[in-house]
Amino acid sequence: MTRHSDMSVRNRSKEFPLIRTRKLGRLYRTGEQVVTALKDVSFDINEGEFVAIMGPSGSGKSTLMNLLGTLDLPTSGDYFLDGENVADIAADELADLRNRTIGFVFQQFNLLPRMRALAQVTLPLTYARRRSGNLKEKARKQLALVGLEDRADHLPSQLSGGQQQRVAIARALINSPKLILADEPTGALDTATSKDLMRLFQRLNGAGITIILVTHDAEIAAYAQRKIVFRDGRIVTNKNQRNSRLLKVS
Ligand SMILES: Nc1ncnc2c1ncn2[C@@H]1O[C@H](COP(=O)(O)OP(=O)(O)O)[C@@H](O)[C@H]1O
Ligand SMILES: [Mg+2]
Repeated sequence: MTRHSDMSVRNRSKEFPLIRTRKLGRLYRTGEQVVTALKDVSFDINEGEFVAIMGPSGSGKSTLMNLLGTLDLPTSGDYFLDGENVADIAADELADLRNRTIGFVFQQFNLLPRMRALAQVTLPLTYARRRSGNLKEKARKQLALVGLEDRADHLPSQLSGGQQQRVAIARALINSPKLILADEPTGALDTATSKDLMRLFQRLNGAGITIILVTHDAEIAAYAQRKIVFRDGRIVTNKNQRNSRLLKVS
C-alpha cells in the first residue's frame, strides 16, 4: 500500500523543481573556530532557468555551488536535486547522478596542461567508462557547439583564455547535463571575451540547459533571468530581472 500512484512517481520531476533547498546551512569548523558559510538558504530553481548568484567575496557563493554540485553536504537543512533529497542517496549513486546531471565550469578553466582540446573534452566520458558510440566523434560535436571545431589538436597554452574556457564548457557538456554550475566563469577573462561567453551560456540555456552562474559583475549577471544575492551566507535578494539581456536577444 502506497500513497503514490505510478503516475505521481513518473511525474515526480515535473512536480518538483530541478533544485530545491530548504533552510540549507554549512558550518566550517577549524579548531576552535566556527564559520557559518551558509545559513537558512531556501530557494527553488526550475528546469530551464538561468540564474546568477551574486554577493561579495566570502558571502558563501562557492560553498553553495559545492553543495548544489553535490561535491559537499550541508551541515543543516535539505537539498533536493531533481526531487531527491541528496542526504538519502548513497555515495556511489550520488557520484553517478552528479556525472549524469551536472556539468561544472570554473574560473581557472581546470584544463590539463599537456592534453589537447579533444582529449580534454572526452575525459569525463573516460571516467564514466561509457563506451557508447565514438568518444572522439562526440567530443568533436561539443567542440563545434562552442565554436572550436578547428582547435581540436591545440594544447591549452596554444589557446586564448576565452578559448580555454570554451574547451572547459565543451567538457562540461559531454555527458549531456541538465544543469551547468559555473563559478565565476568570466573571472579570468576580459570584458569582450566575457560577453561572448555569456552569449554562449544563453545559447545553451536556449537549448534547455539550466544554468546557475556565480559572478560579482553586475553586467555579467544581467545576462541571467534571475538574480539571487548573498550576504554573510544568507539570501538578501531573489528576484527575476525584467531587464535581463536574455530578453533582448532576438
Ligand atoms: N574549507 C573551508 N574551511 C573553512 N572555512 C571556509 C572553507 N571554505 C570557505 N570557508 C569560509 O566560508 C565563508 C564563505 O566562503 P565562500 O563560499 O568561498 O565565499 P565566496 O565564494 O562567496 O567568496 C568564508 O568566510 C570562508 O572563509
Ligand atoms: Mg567563491
